[in-house]
Amino acid sequence: MGTVPTGVRGLDVLMEGGFPRGSTIMVEGAPGTGKTTLGMQFLYHGAAMDGEAGIYVTFEEFPDQLYRDMLALGWDLRKLEAEGLLRVISMSPDIFLEQIIDPGGLVEKLIREIDCKRVVIDSISLFRYGAADEEGHRRMLYRLRNILRRMDLTSLLIKERGTTREETGFEAYIADGFIQLQLKQQMDKYRVRTLEILKMRGRRIREGEHVYRLTDDGIRLIPARSMIEDLALLNGQEKVPTGIGVLDELLEGGFAQESVYLLDTNSKANYKYLIASVLANRVRAGDKVLALLSSFLTPQDLNKMLALQGLSMSEMAQEDRIFFIEHYTRPYPKDCEPNVMDVSGLDNLAYRRIVQEKIGTLVEGSGNWFIYYDLNTVIAERGKDYATKYFAEDSAGVKALGMTMMVLCNFSEIGPEVSAFLERTCNGVIRTWVDGAYQYMQVIKSPNGVISEPYVVETTAQAPFMRLI
Ligand SMILES: Nc1ncnc2c1ncn2[C@@H]1O[C@H](COP(=O)(O)OP(=O)(O)O)[C@@H](O)[C@H]1O
Ligand SMILES: [Mg+2]
Repeated sequence: MGTVPTGVRGLDVLMEGGFPRGSTIMVEGAPGTGKTTLGMQFLYHGAAMDGEAGIYVTFEEFPDQLYRDMLALGWDLRKLEAEGLLRVISMSPDIFLEQIIDPGGLVEKLIREIDCKRVVIDSISLFRYGAADEEGHRRMLYRLRNILRRMDLTSLLIKERGTTREETGFEAYIADGFIQLQLKQQMDKYRVRTLEILKMRGRRIREGEHVYRLTDDGIRLIPARSMIEDLALLNGQEKVPTGIGVLDELLEGGFAQESVYLLDTNSKANYKYLIASVLANRVRAGDKVLALLSSFLTPQDLNKMLALQGLSMSEMAQEDRIFFIEHYTRPYPKDCEPNVMDVSGLDNLAYRRIVQEKIGTLVEGSGNWFIYYDLNTVIAERGKDYATKYFAEDSAGVKALGMTMMVLCNFSEIGPEVSAFLERTCNGVIRTWVDGAYQYMQVIKSPNGVISEPYVVETTAQAPFMRLI
């Protein structure tokens, strides 16, 4: 049985990668808990990211509001409809049932027309009124489940939960999966949204109530900590600390080996301390470093930053523990010159060949490597097309050679599409930005599924010279 990613950050890790393909999942929650958002997020990501067409069935008479709400989340449903990747069907529950039960009916025609893989029905609660009695209601749901299953559609059946606690026994029983969304009152003051997977056929699920947020780009889930610790133990991946306390806690020990991390910064944010701390910790853990610096972080800057961390760049170079790829003609600190690969005059083709060759011979059988890669520089010097064309390939290569990489990039300069692509390609993404008088830092993606709140970055007098609060 295949797996269908949910499109919701943090949710897939709770059930071994996503929904089982072809399964019928019940999503239950009170009004306003985010069921519609979850359903649309599932379809939108399926269509936009995985090229899987979806159908959204709504029993609202005029779904205009739905289009507007989703557009506010950045999801242009009309565009997907034009591309044949989405259909929003608005009809009465009775007609829908009539049509889906009919083998040559409207619904089946639509499904074939767009080669539909995912379906969301919002909501099945309205079926209740069409059925003669409870028994008829059950039989009808059972039939619907069988039809969806037969067509190998991965489906979300949304169920409204009223204020009174109704029986959920039967629906939970016939569905392959059951997800409950709740809005909980905590300590009188706070309300927190929680998601719990009560059932997922054929999957080991991560139990418990996991907190989620409704954000400007949909639902984000923050898996409960106990579960994250399990995961870290499970994959037993070696980690090297970044040296920033809170960040290492969030990343369950630091950067994982053979992974690519992206640091998204804007020009005002000070990211140099973070880079210096990460580099220093890697060097102490025995890694060798290959650095591609920018015009904003010069070799002299790095030299100073490492010195503040108690490391001598000259010594590292003499011991062949640090190498550089250099796009600019500029001086290097003492003893570093022999380890500088000057690529300033090279066209893209020659650059690519030489860098690959050189890295290959450097890295082969010589221990662990850490690459610091300023993607802004590559974009500025080699063009955006070059940078994006080879990024996925290069990160795969980096991982295959057992290396770990930190990539610096400014998402706001490269546009949302390239940013989304980079985010998908990297194992972890850390964002830092300045807003008003404060700098913030946030983990927005990590291999262990953690996403964090924004933390305020405070400068401190001693190494690592920054602290997250
Ligand atoms: N960007 C956002 N940030 C916070 N809350 C939001 C955002 N967008 C929508 N919401 C909230 O999400 C809820 C609507 O979610 P919806 O998916 O329609 O829930 P349901 O279908 O369960 O009724 C509303 O309470 C709305 O205020
Ligand atoms: Mg709704």
